[in-house]
Amino acid sequence: MDATPAVRLDGVSKQYADSYAVRDVNLDIAAGQFFSLLGPSGCGKTTSLRMIGGFTDPTEGAVLLGGEDVTALPPNKRNVNTVFQSYALFDHLSIADNIAFGLKRKGVDRAEIRRRVGEMLELVQLSGQARRRPRTLSGGQRQRVALARALVNRPAVLLLDEPLAALDLKLRRQMQVELKQIQREVGITFVFVTHDQDEALTMSDRVAVMNEGRVEQCGTPEDVYEHPTSRFVASFMGTSNLMAGTYRDGAVVLDQGPALPVGQRDGMSDGTTVSMSVRPEKIWLSDFEPGMEVLRGVIRETVYSGPTTTYLIELAPGVTLSVLEQNTARARMEDRWIGGETVEFGWRPEHCLVLS
Ligand SMILES: Nc1ncnc2c1ncn2[C@@H]1O[C@H](COP(=O)(O)OP(=O)(O)OP(=O)(O)O)[C@@H](O)[C@H]1O
Ligand SMILES: [Mg+2]
Repeated sequence: MDATPAVRLDGVSKQYADSYAVRDVNLDIAAGQFFSLLGPSGCGKTTSLRMIGGFTDPTEGAVLLGGEDVTALPPNKRNVNTVFQSYALFDHLSIADNIAFGLKRKGVDRAEIRRRVGEMLELVQLSGQARRRPRTLSGGQRQRVALARALVNRPAVLLLDEPLAALDLKLRRQMQVELKQIQREVGITFVFVTHDQDEALTMSDRVAVMNEGRVEQCGTPEDVYEHPTSRFVASFMGTSNLMAGTYRDGAVVLDQGPALPVGQRDGMSDGTTVSMSVRPEKIWLSDFEPGMEVLRGVIRETVYSGPTTTYLIELAPGVTLSVLEQNTARARMEDRWIGGETVEFGWRPEHCLVLS
């Protein structure tokens, strides 16, 4: 296997006047990966993507594609294509001609264009729609045309900036699955920008979580969700029940009072100021394991949302935990807790995240 990364950002920064849009980013993106840049609005995702594509020049650092330093090369000299959120399709051209556009401009011969456009139409499941105009298509179909148009050039890397943001939730979920399938099929490296954690977790081989121009953590979806290395990542990746306190002998004594069991932490001395968190789905409300420390709290809110129910449990004045229960075939509706009830809850110490 070729170990040269498809994309490398080597100490890349982009400074505007006195502020940094991107600051000292170092990233390796392996060939053939579905890689996501994830983070809140303004954290520098688009700027990073534009520097890979050559649309924005870094003020420091280097961009490498397949091991070659392309920092000084314009976009058309880079073996990269971009799918923008706006799709930017030509409305006076048919779908097939939209897809063929780049190849025609490059002077690829007609038989070859026909073949490759046909292949792409099949890939994005629009074979029967080749003669239609973009404006007569649904949002999801237009998205697929934009994708086909970018892939037909067979770039080494495809850059996608929130390509699904304009779609409604159901179509978006469906396109997430399709996009991932297409990526596997073509084997091209995808660099995908999103501010939606669920989207990044479902689709990616690896995720870089960005905050204020920097990469806070980079890893597999499981790494960044289960083992966040910073408060920001813990709180950005779903609900995390983040609480502040002091570590003491296998427990975190919260600033607001109660002590919560977190297990002995190697190398952490008593009195260390920490943040701790437990994911809502890692908290048990019944059938406790032997040895599990059981706490008590009062249900303040019950939020039913189909497959799951979320409880807000107050364990001390001002300290509330979110707890998620699956409404599986075995769960009985009448067993659901209601507001005001006192409940017992617990967790495995290893499911607590403790950050000093
Ligand atoms: N041309 C520019 N001039 C000045 N500041 C800019 C410019 N482009 C981006 N910025 C700033 O850089 C920061 C990062 O912007 P960027 O567009 O990369 O964020 P983003 O993560 O893509 O956000 P969003 O999710 O809202 O699209 C922002 O604070 C933005 O205001
Ligand atoms: Mg953006």
